[in-house]
Amino acid sequence: MKLLAAMILAAGLLSAVHIVHAADPDPLQDFCIADIAAGPVSNGFPCKLPALASTDDFAFSGLAEAADPSVSASNGTATLAFVREWPALNTQGLSFVRLDINPGGIIFPHTHNLATEILYVLEGEMYTGFVTNNFGNDPTISNKLYAKVVKKGEAFIFPRGLLHFQLNKGKVLASSLNVLNSQNPGIQLMPLALFGSGIDREMLEKSFFMNEAQVAALENIFQQ
Ligand SMILES: *[C@@H]1O[C@H](CO)[C@@H](O)[C@H](O)[C@H]1NC(C)=O
Repeated sequence: MKLLAAMILAAGLLSAVHIVHAADPDPLQDFCIADIAAGPVSNGFPCKLPALASTDDFAFSGLAEAADPSVSASNGTATLAFVREWPALNTQGLSFVRLDINPGGIIFPHTHNLATEILYVLEGEMYTGFVTNNFGNDPTISNKLYAKVVKKGEAFIFPRGLLHFQLNKGKVLASSLNVLNSQNPGIQLMPLALFGSGIDREMLEKSFFMNEAQVAALENIFQQ
């Protein structure tokens, strides 16, 4: 009896673990082209009528060309192919982003709270990596950095939700195509979240050991 109870408990724990590690939920139909205008409902977007879907819904050309990174303050551009840009991703559990970074340019440190990401370098090279969290499964690797220069044809994985970044230390444009296991990975860019959101200055001064003028200078850059 005790063994049976232990087995049931173990099975319960395993399925709980499985739920915790699941990415987007499985689709309930072949496809569900998002009706973006209808807005996100409880989890994702409502489907447009399947009979109205066409081949063009499933095709996407928005990542074909490099974007111009110099339009960005960081000299690095992320071109999204998430569900809002490509409604056919709705319910399919994955998305793309293309990075184009000028020499010396960066993608600000950021997180995707809803997705794991794989970066694949198309051209050039990027110094990239991630930092583990403070209270992960092993306290000896708290805030540990895993980073390297990743070159054309090579890939790197950023575990779900962890802080990561890209810097082009090379001499030519660096581009990558990245896949994420959510239709809507979420992006939280740290400088914008901290200095562009209107957090009380005292909070920022005390967090970063900066004076009011230093905080104000960063707010000036990041507040939109
Ligand atoms: C952005 O990168 C280009 C090409 O490397 C460079 O000429 C330009 O000075 C950079 N802009 C800034 C603001 O760093």
